[in-house]
Amino acid sequence: MTSGSDEQQGTAGGGVSTGRPRILILNAALAGAEGNTARWLARARADLAAAAVLDEAVLAGPGAETFAGLEPRLRAADGFWLATGTHWDGWSSVLQRFLEEATPAECTDLWLGKPAAVLVTEHSVGGKGVLSRLQGVLVTLGCCLPPCSGVVLSRSALLARRHEPGAAEDFWGADDLGVVARNLVLAAGRRRTDWLAWPVDRQDFNRVWVE
Ligand SMILES: Cc1cc2nc3c(=O)[nH]c(=O)nc-3n(C[C@H](O)[C@H](O)[C@H](O)COP(=O)(O)O)c2cc1C
Repeated sequence: MTSGSDEQQGTAGGGVSTGRPRILILNAALAGAEGNTARWLARARADLAAAAVLDEAVLAGPGAETFAGLEPRLRAADGFWLATGTHWDGWSSVLQRFLEEATPAECTDLWLGKPAAVLVTEHSVGGKGVLSRLQGVLVTLGCCLPPCSGVVLSRSALLARRHEPGAAEDFWGADDLGVVARNLVLAAGRRRTDWLAWPVDRQDFNRVWVE
């Protein structure tokens, strides 16, 4: 899905890109476009649409995309919003596969210096661990993290907010998606493009190393 204009200004001399940033929403939820995560992403999209050019890809279900197919769209993006459910304390298997397939692109211009926001959904427990580990992976791939750009939407926390609004008001909720969206757009619109990357083995990282 693409919305808004395609206008994109070039990179300024200081290595800072300007203009309306292009954000790729990567729905990596197990239930794809039909699940819980997709419903929250629909709200996030509304928060992003006014300030960014949006693209969206789904990694599971009908029309599921792969890393190889997405590569040009990942490269064209100024920033990413990744989203997954929590599955046995981990992220979805489709996200794991995507990350494995993305390995040869580690620290390339596809990721380098691009801000990444993360939405994790869960029933009750494990989502914050998923969020923190995924943010760590994204930084190792080459992305950067804007402040307040990772959120866990938990069924249990939302129930607590509904029944004990006073006591649970600082639990993450749908209203926090707007903060994440704002910070992602801000970081993507001002992203630097002159970062350094350390050497990465792209050819032989699969080799058998046990002698
Ligand atoms: C196989 C499986 C494992 C799950 N494991 C957890 C878990 O460890 N912790 C949790 O809080 N929720 C767990 N859930 C609930 C999902 O994380 C939650 O419903 C999420 O919003 C699903 O997103 P989706 O509908 O977009 O795929 C699990 C769900 C499934 C199907």
